[in-house]
Amino acid sequence: MSDKKQIAEILKTVTLVMCIVLIGFLISACQSTLNLKKVNLPSEKKPLINEKATKEDFAYPTKDPSVVEGKQLFTQNCSACHSFGSEANKNEFTLKYINSVPPSQLFKVITNDDKHESFREKLTRQERWDIVMYVRYTLFGLPKDVEDVKVKFGSNCAVCHGTRGFADGPIHYFLNPPPANFNQFDRLYEKTDEKLFDEVSNGIPWTAMPPWAGRVDKDKHFEFDEKFRWELVKFIRQFGYSTEKDILREKELFEAKESKKEEENTEKDK
Ligand code: HEC
Ligand code: HEC
Repeated sequence: MSDKKQIAEILKTVTLVMCIVLIGFLISACQSTLNLKKVNLPSEKKPLINEKATKEDFAYPTKDPSVVEGKQLFTQNCSACHSFGSEANKNEFTLKYINSVPPSQLFKVITNDDKHESFREKLTRQERWDIVMYVRYTLFGLPKDVEDVKVKFGSNCAVCHGTRGFADGPIHYFLNPPPANFNQFDRLYEKTDEKLFDEVSNGIPWTAMPPWAGRVDKDKHFEFDEKFRWELVKFIRQFGYSTEKDILREKELFEAKESKKEEENTEKDK
């Protein structure tokens, strides 16, 4: 490549980045107040409600519910009366039902509903959430190809929402309202899958969240068709629970950190 061409390439990239930043600015400016305050991001998933005060009542989980734990608990507590199916008969859970109620609704049923009241005493709050997420996961689990969706989310959504969904993408500083934090229980657990699908498809008026229905990603050669937008909703949902894979990955990270510490210590001893 000649020098001239290289310089032109660099200029193109710089202009593109500046355009993105400028658009971010304009969007915030349009919303009357230019709020450049840093968004308070939770560095970890903290319980949103005091555990003691609300032990018996509705409250969000303390950490990501585990579908692995949930599976066992479901077998022990629910499978005598419930199973999974495609038609709503004989207390079968269906995909249609799961898509149309917010996750919090399922929790409320097994906490306050007459027929299920006993679970409030029998199971801890975290265990009830484990079951809820297992039921949801069984019918509306991960995207078919998680890695593929991750890459596409990375190049289209992460600029605002962050790769881990914490609303900490590079331009989040300029957005008011800030991007949605997909790890925030009190937000995502109160929305149905249908609602999230609608927001991904049609965008959210007066915010930076654009509509995606029918868009084409020219770099990666794919379209945001209906099927892919549902895959995105599944992908967003997985920030709100943990699977066996997540648990294994956490363990690996921990072990890697520990062995590095050990290495450092032996280095020091020498
Ligand atoms: C002894 C039987 C029994 C057990 C055990 C049981 N359920 Fe149910 N459940 C029912 C019946 C009966 C209904 C239907 C209630 C109705 O239609 O009003 C129901 C309905 C539901 C509904 C749907 C409520 C709605 O909004 O339509 C959910 C969700 C649910 N159960 C979850 C659970 C979970 C989770 C467990 C395990 C922790 C569980 N149930 C254990 C009998 C049971
Ligand atoms: C230019 C920044 C930007 C990009 C790019 C973007 N979003 Fe958003 N998104 C936002 C903002 C800002 C909100 C919050 C709007 C509000 O508070 O109502 C939001 C909200 C959402 C919500 C609603 C969540 C909730 O709790 O209400 C979903 C779902 C969502 N985005 C998905 C996506 C997906 C999927 C992509 C990529 C295909 C994407 N977003 C790309 C800025 C963006």
